[in-house]
Amino acid sequence: MSNPPSSKRLVAIPASPIRKLVPYAVAAKQEGIKVYHLNIGDPDIETPQVMLDALKNWSKNPIGYSQSKGEPIFIDALKTYYHRLGYQFIGGDDIQVTSGGSEAISMAFFATCEGGDEVLVFEPLYTLYNSFAAINNVKLVPVRTSADAGFHLPPRIEIEKKITKKTKAILICNPSNPTGTVYTQQEMDTLFEIAKNHNLFLLSDEVYREFVYDDRRHISVLDYMKKLPEKIILLDSLSKRFSICGARIGTFISKNKAIMDGVLRIAQSRLSVGLIDQTIAARLTSVPRSYFKKVHREYQKRRDVLYEELKKIPGVSLKKPEGAFYAVVTLPIRDSEHFSKWLLTDFRFKNQTVMVAPAPGFYVTKGLGKQEVRMAYVINISELKKAIEILRRALIEYKD
Ligand SMILES: Cc1ncc(COP(=O)(O)O)c(C=O)c1O
Repeated sequence: MSNPPSSKRLVAIPASPIRKLVPYAVAAKQEGIKVYHLNIGDPDIETPQVMLDALKNWSKNPIGYSQSKGEPIFIDALKTYYHRLGYQFIGGDDIQVTSGGSEAISMAFFATCEGGDEVLVFEPLYTLYNSFAAINNVKLVPVRTSADAGFHLPPRIEIEKKITKKTKAILICNPSNPTGTVYTQQEMDTLFEIAKNHNLFLLSDEVYREFVYDDRRHISVLDYMKKLPEKIILLDSLSKRFSICGARIGTFISKNKAIMDGVLRIAQSRLSVGLIDQTIAARLTSVPRSYFKKVHREYQKRRDVLYEELKKIPGVSLKKPEGAFYAVVTLPIRDSEHFSKWLLTDFRFKNQTVMVAPAPGFYVTKGLGKQEVRMAYVINISELKKAIEILRRALIEYKD
């Protein structure tokens, strides 16, 4: 019998719906087509100047490894950041620096589950949870949320129904990618009570913490950490907060000593996060408040433009996102995978087109999201308006 070309678990890892159409976008660009990128949350907002200065003033020679746990000056800066948010109980021992929030998510699955264990998630969900679950041999058990309810949580009973002997954790994304939903105090209380009563870990991905719109307040899982120190894990990232996606900086935060010791051993196996990246990120406490105010105002304006302009297109519907910089948008089509590809391969308006992320990959349940795409409002308002106009024309031309 011939050897299989790869492992079965390698085959099981899904392609990212955010990136899998990139070759078609590259081909379109090579033809001279302008592609408006609404597919990926890689913001056009400028990185804070103090962070760029750290790069400009780089003087360490040679560029060595950093410590596996994280560079001490960066861990100190992170402590200050969380203390300023009101979480003075976060100490250096509670922080593990990771290669983006991505590595923190993967570590969280590995640290809390045995192979075959279950983690409750709310779908639509951040697509890469599917990938990290597959890599760590964890089964995601989806709880459906609906656009009609603004993708807020279903009644507690619906969540508890999904808990089995194998359930080890609940993973939330707050504010949510892809829906933009921000959980209320009541919802967070419910999640905390479920985790406590069923002895589950509560894993909270809060990489969009600062991007909460209108009069909403973000309720962090850190608000509950002192009440359930062994079971709460915060997964965080600087990528979006400071527009430093390319610096690959995240954090894994917990008061559970066994877990922190264990994730450090994982971290030792990958040696360290980039020293240059952490030196840039260590400037986070010097970023002026005015930076956040400006960025927040800009995203909220973009959110409004996206919502108002899309609503005008016949057959298109969406809930107004409450936070983050994404929306799940229902289109008058049957197959968003086909439509998203067609936009790149076939459709042109004045030598331009739009790239969106088909939504099926943002679900665990097969067959959902077929009429939906996820859009990221990470381009400026003038471009965003043009992109939506192109989408409007595309929907007229598109034949299912
Ligand atoms: C919800 C969420 N979590 C985690 C990440 C990971 O980002 P990074 O690895 O750049 O920190 C992303 C990136 O888009 C995200 O949207």
